[in-house]
Amino acid sequence: MEIIAVCNQKGGCAKTTTAVNLAASLADLNKKVLLIDNDPQGNLTGSIGVNEYKNTILDCLVNDLSIGEAVVKSNFDNIDILAADINYANAELALANVKNKEYLLKEAFERSKLDYDYILIDCSPSLSLTTINALVAANSILIPLEPSIFNLEGLAQLIKILRLVMDNLNKKLEIKGVLLTRVDTRSNLPKQFEEQLHEIFGDKLFNTMIHQSISVVRSQIEKKPLLYYERWGKSSREYIALAKEVAKRG
Ligand SMILES: Nc1ncnc2c1ncn2[C@@H]1O[C@H](COP(=O)(O)OP(=O)(O)OP(=O)(O)O)[C@@H](O)[C@H]1O
Ligand SMILES: [Mg+2]
Repeated sequence: MEIIAVCNQKGGCAKTTTAVNLAASLADLNKKVLLIDNDPQGNLTGSIGVNEYKNTILDCLVNDLSIGEAVVKSNFDNIDILAADINYANAELALANVKNKEYLLKEAFERSKLDYDYILIDCSPSLSLTTINALVAANSILIPLEPSIFNLEGLAQLIKILRLVMDNLNKKLEIKGVLLTRVDTRSNLPKQFEEQLHEIFGDKLFNTMIHQSISVVRSQIEKKPLLYYERWGKSSREYIALAKEVAKRG
């Protein structure tokens, strides 16, 4: 079982889109996947069409529920969900004085006997306590990145936090990879920028990149992963290629 946190504090860089579609592509490779919504926006829960659940991630962190007890089935084969909703916005406050508050998600995993090949945690656009909990519970982090020079600067902050987590809270945390998302289809990445990315990330940069596509937006409106919307489309093929790379890096 591998736990991957999909994380970048930059808003809108396709964390949720990546989590949902990577999950569907892994599920298509016959892997059992649990998707965890770790964001009070609840975008993951909504975008995969889950609207009936009794418990959320908040119950696992605040009320000591085990993850297994809170998980629900999605409409898609091999994909289960741990939901989140707007009440999760209170988590920071509710947990302010709790002992070992960075370890609560990890402990919730330890209370459960889970049987998944992959667990993907969709983080919120912040480096808050709930994101730290994901990084402490995870084996690795997958960083979606929109290719812009400004986003590289934001990434420096993320790397700083990762170092702190790796030094103090989760020594085993690895970088699974950096995924370029929402890449403009009309123009190639500027050569200089691409070289810079390779220089910084080396072989951590996934060979696969995800291009801008209206199909991504349309599939989200229909509350389906791309594979269930347009199986043979370009974006579906990109996410399948990503899943294969992720599985290979195992
Ligand atoms: N490949 C793509 N092509 C076109 N639009 C995309 C693509 N990937 C993501 N988007 C759009 O970009 C927006 C942000 O995507 P998403 O919600 O996945 O990002 P996020 O990082 O999870 O955002 P947040 O930081 O708010 O959690 C959404 O409107 C989504 O439809
Ligand atoms: Mg999101």
